[in-house]
Formats: sequence, C-alpha cells, structure tokens
Amino acid sequence: MNIVVEGKAYIRNKIEHVCIGIEDGKIAKIAKILPKGEENYKFSREIILPAGIDIHVHFREPGFTHKEDFSTGTISAAFGGICCIFDMPNTKPPTTTKNAILDKIEIAKRKAYIDFGLYAGITDENFENIRDFAKYCNAFKIYLGSTTNALQLRKENLKDFFKNAEEFSDKPIMIHAEDEECLNKHRIVENNLIDHLRARPDVCEKKSIQTVHNCKSKKNRIHICHVSSADSIEFLKEAKGDISIGVTLHHLLFSINIKRKTLPDSFYKVNPPLRKKFDTETLIEHLTNGFIDVLESDHAPHTYEEKNINFDEAPNGIPGVETMYPLFLFWFSKNLISLGQLVSLISEKPARIMGLEKGVISEGKDADLIVVDLKNIQKIKAENLHYKCEWTPYEGMQAIFPSYTLVRGTPIVEEYILVGEKGYGEHIKTVNEEE
Ligand code: NCD
Ligand code: ZN
Repeated sequence: MNIVVEGKAYIRNKIEHVCIGIEDGKIAKIAKILPKGEENYKFSREIILPAGIDIHVHFREPGFTHKEDFSTGTISAAFGGICCIFDMPNTKPPTTTKNAILDKIEIAKRKAYIDFGLYAGITDENFENIRDFAKYCNAFKIYLGSTTNALQLRKENLKDFFKNAEEFSDKPIMIHAEDEECLNKHRIVENNLIDHLRARPDVCEKKSIQTVHNCKSKKNRIHICHVSSADSIEFLKEAKGDISIGVTLHHLLFSINIKRKTLPDSFYKVNPPLRKKFDTETLIEHLTNGFIDVLESDHAPHTYEEKNINFDEAPNGIPGVETMYPLFLFWFSKNLISLGQLVSLISEKPARIMGLEKGVISEGKDADLIVVDLKNIQKIKAENLHYKCEWTPYEGMQAIFPSYTLVRGTPIVEEYILVGEKGYGEHIKTVNEEE
C-alpha cells in the first residue's frame, strides 16, 4: 500500500478500529490489521471520518477575485474538512456557455487544492440551447428570484427547460427558490434584517417550490437549495417525492433576532433571508430527523468594506465553507446530532446527488478522510480562517476543526497546517464529457 491510516474510523454506520489501506488515491483495503505501507499514520485519540462535500459555494472566480478565488476558497474548504466543492455560476462572465465553463475549469485546475465541479447557470437566454454546454457542467443552477449578480430564469420557461434537461437527466438541477413576482410585490427600502425578511417573505419561497414541483417531470433530478422556512418544509413533506433538500448553516443557526450579534445587520443579509425562530427550530428538527438531505454552505463571501455600508445597498451573502463541518462536529460532540446523520448530510448524500465515488469510507472509493480530535474545541475567529473576506458571522462560536484533511489519499491539511499543493485539485469528470 502507498499509505496506511490506522485508527477509529466511521465505517458501516459505526466507529471501528481499523487500518485503511490507500493505493493511487483510492481506499484499497480496510482490515483490522494491514502490513505497513510506504507512509503510515496512526491515530489513537482522534476519529477518522469521510471528508465533507460542499455542493454550494461561490468562489467568485473569474471576475470577483477580490472577494475569493479558487486558491483561497479551496484552502479554506480544506481547513474546514471539505474534500470537494461545486462552484456556482454567478461569476463574471457567468458560466452559462460552453466557453465560460471550459475557461473556469482551466482556472480552477491551476488553482484548486481540493476537487471541484462546476454548475452551468440556466437563464432565459440559454435554456433552449443547453445541448451546446450541458455536457461540460456537473449540474445546472437556476435562480427563480433575483439576488446578488445572479442570473435568472423566468418561471414561464421552467417547464421547457425541464423538458430539455431530460436528455441530460443524470445531471442534478439545483434551484434557488424565491418567486420573482412575489418578491417584486413585497419590495421595500430595507434598513435591517426584519425589513429584509419583510421584503422576501416565506410565501415567496413556498410559491417557488410549488412551481418547481408542478413543472418538473419524473426524470428531472431536482435539488432545492437552502430551504429556509417552516412553510416550505410543510409543503415538501406532502410533496417531496424524489426532490432533495439542502439547508445552510446560517439558516439553522441564525434567525432575525440573532443572540450573539458580532457585526452590523448588513453582514447577515443573505438570500433567502434569515427568518424567525420558529423557522430555525423547524429546520433543526427536520435536519436531525433525517428529512433534510444535505448541508450546504452557500459560501458567498463579500469583503468587509462591501458589507459595511447601509443595509439597503449591501450585497447579499455570508461566508461559511470553512466553518460548516467544524460547527456541526461541535454539535455532534454535544449530542445535538448523531454521527450517522452528520455524515449522511455532509458526505454521503452530497456524493450520491452528484454521482461521486466519494463520501463514504469504503473499499473502492476515493480516500477522502478527515481526522478529528473531539476534545479540541476552539472558538471561531475570523483571523484564523483563510477567506479573502477576513470576516465570519460565527465569530466566538465553538467548533471542532479537523487536524487532517486527506483528498484522494494526499494530506492537504496535516496537523492543522496547510501542506497541500495548488493545482492538486481535480475536476470531477462528468459522464459524457470525454467525447
Ligand atoms: C449569493 C452570492 O453572493 O453570490 N448570495 C446569497 O445571498 N446567497 C447569491 C445567491 O446565490 O443568492
Ligand atoms: Zn448560493
């Protein structure tokens, strides 16, 4: 074996003491005892878990690299225990054409420390021509309501797009569900988080999810991003079927009455908006009972200066790729979530949705592992994170960061230090891209 990792690992739904033998980046053998490899790691007090997969990040490259880029974004992700990210299309130029997608793949290949996939944005301009570019993206992203630099698809075109997408039905379709007409009706000048919620009420989210549900065909693989309201959850409980659901950590941890606010309201301005306590409680209940499928960060960094202006003009978005897994590892350490649920939400289901050979510690899968010392609880500090934006809404909150993050058997983070290399990250191949 190239590498043997020994310790207590999360395998087949329980923690077992094993040796994990790695060859060519894959888990080749799992056994109680294995002969020594060329490189050997032994962990006694820590646990070994599958690394996380974040299917929703905005790494801002090309076009907005003063906010983040593929290097700073993937370094941050690695420190947060993430082995693979999927980048959203609202960059400049947006990834809505074959060339824009191929250009972004080339940029990311040069700069990424961890593996990556890309979304194609679907708009009123390109939904009829998806044949031109669909095979180059890993999945599709649709914005049904307007938001920061976002592309849009009018809901009148949704049914036709869904029909066109059947041809590429192995590719997931991720939806930002807020109904544009509904948002327009509620538009006001906003001074704070309460106003932002008034301007984007839960009825707009629910309406949009209902539209998606009515327009989709059986073949479409739909994922609703960042579901944020109790009402939407209620509707989906009736209608979910094979639709998958994501939630973000900010919608789980914050409502409009944030208890420990460390920054002005504009820093917590995000779409969909932060809602009421009842919504966060409902989301948490459905996270821990298994109804929600995926934890996604919606890492949407803007600089401190960009956010530190009057509320109405401040851009929407909150950074989170580095803190998502660590905050929930802390939850696990406090028995607020089971390890089975957490691993399912952050590794297994995202891998299944995206069709990856990742997300579980099992022979034949990519050796994407994190090592966690559950006793090493730290307070989150922006200065210790690796974002370009240099702020976090989770300042002072407790978290457990991994001491190691391995991507395909190679340590990217080792003993809490970056050891990975720029350009190591691989593009996740899509089924028919090679032709
Ligand atoms: C996103 C961003 O900044 O790119 N902001 C956000 O509030 N989530 C745009 C988006 O995905 O809505
Ligand atoms: Zn987003």
